[in-house]
Amino acid sequence: MVVVAEFNRAGRGHRNFDLVLDPAGVEGAGKNEQGGNQQGDEALHESLLVSMCGGRAGPVMKIVAVHLENRINFAKSVPCQGRVAIVTGSGFAEGPEAGAGDDPGAFREMIQNPSGRSAATADCRSRAVIWLGVWSLRVTVLHSRDLSLPVENGKDAVMKNRQVDLFAVVPPGFEQVCAAELLALGMADIVPEAGGVSFTGKLRELYLANLWLRSAGRVLVRFAEVQARDFPSLFRKAVRLPWGEFIRPGQRLRFRVSSRGSRLQHGGRIAETLEMAARQALGVRQEEDGGEEQLVLVRLEKDCCFISIDSSGALLHRRGYRVEPGAAPLRENLAAAILATLAWRSSEPMVDPFCGSGTFAIEAALLAANIPPGRQRDFAFMHWPGFRHGLWKLLLVEADRGLHRDGHGPILAADRDAGMLAMARANADLAGVADLIEWRCAEVMDLRLPSRPGVLVANPPYGSRLEQPESVARLYRQLDALCLTEWRDWRKGIIVPDPALLQQWSGRKKLRFRNGGLPVRLWFD
Ligand SMILES: C[S@@+](CC[C@H](N)C(=O)[O-])C[C@H]1O[C@@H](n2cnc3c(N)ncnc32)[C@H](O)[C@@H]1O
Repeated sequence: MVVVAEFNRAGRGHRNFDLVLDPAGVEGAGKNEQGGNQQGDEALHESLLVSMCGGRAGPVMKIVAVHLENRINFAKSVPCQGRVAIVTGSGFAEGPEAGAGDDPGAFREMIQNPSGRSAATADCRSRAVIWLGVWSLRVTVLHSRDLSLPVENGKDAVMKNRQVDLFAVVPPGFEQVCAAELLALGMADIVPEAGGVSFTGKLRELYLANLWLRSAGRVLVRFAEVQARDFPSLFRKAVRLPWGEFIRPGQRLRFRVSSRGSRLQHGGRIAETLEMAARQALGVRQEEDGGEEQLVLVRLEKDCCFISIDSSGALLHRRGYRVEPGAAPLRENLAAAILATLAWRSSEPMVDPFCGSGTFAIEAALLAANIPPGRQRDFAFMHWPGFRHGLWKLLLVEADRGLHRDGHGPILAADRDAGMLAMARANADLAGVADLIEWRCAEVMDLRLPSRPGVLVANPPYGSRLEQPESVARLYRQLDALCLTEWRDWRKGIIVPDPALLQQWSGRKKLRFRNGGLPVRLWFD
């Protein structure tokens, strides 16, 4: 639970004070009344930040009380705006009058100013310890100069003129596929890492990556790295970052936080601190527009906070063509990554005997026709303040010039379910490639393959998701037989939920990945 209080120092009496909650004020450990240390965690949870910001109508102080895990009902039981004294640049402000709380005897306020600064000199950060009942909370007082630092403005500092670190998020196991795609796009400094590939570029490269990467799930801008062992320093460092490059004032923000081996652990509070810093930097108090939400990914590792801005928005596998998902569909970027893993060349035949919603065939056709997978969709970067419409249009025109709809091998999509096949065809229509695919309604055992062998890729039903185990086991026995006979000369890639299912044929290579949350394997020649 978080409550924020705002003091208007010019006013008297707590009716002039708005309560607001602000997580950025955690500083140091608390002490109990006898001066003993509380558990570090608890102390961090119960904290308070008093900050002072310049305001037109006179100085406005913000009191920030963070109150988590309900360990202390501070915000609930105390009209806290009346119970704290604040060290400010011009002395002590106490308010409202003593005894204004609902239980005047229950709390004791004591202010210390360890920095020893007088009012006149306290124009930079200073600290105070505030005693509230059994709690002593260390407080950082931030003055307006700290809080209204000039930040780089979106229009001036955009990546147009600056090479930045970018990161393509990729399903684990397919990093090399994505690295090869980036290489083909002419990107620089490509380094595969676990779960993605880093590279560098400016806006052009960022737009190209979103438009063209087939295997990636997102493209991130590595925005900042700040060392922070406490919330005030996280706030102070984050407020200086050029958020305006990527976020419109008032835009909705969503933070996704992970923390490992770091003092700051609480994802919710980290997110709140960063959001406050971003809003402060942008000059707005809270989200205002109902438009696109901007995702910010935050990873704390050994007290270093890595902040990335998502440039993609909806995950990149959402190409925009699959309105009919069918049952247990494969993500489009996974399908594309599997085709690349099987080294399918568009001049070769490609067959999917279990096409479902048509993902493999559509991805193959997009690749064969050189259609960018992101041609039909929007991206988060289109909502950034420095979005370069002209550049984006230019990239689309260049892409359209490179389309070619002939010269590829046959792409055959089959399924025994006629309804499913109709769905797949509707999806392919939306993707603009239905005419590049041959559609066949057939039982896998009855499917006739093109005479020239190529790549056969199969995502058969998984017992746990679609069918009963006995029928699945029977189906895989049939596949075993097909692999050794009619499909023998084809380069095969079969998604296998359980290695025990295929007992005779086993691909020479095996790759583990997750599909729809299930661990599966791709067995391939
Ligand atoms: C797991 S789904 C395939 C999903 C597909 N990869 C996609 O992305 O939508 C399996 C498909 O195989 C089809 N199927 C199941 N048994 C079959 C069989 N014996 N012969 C042909 N198709 C079959 C089902 O109708 C279903 O559409």
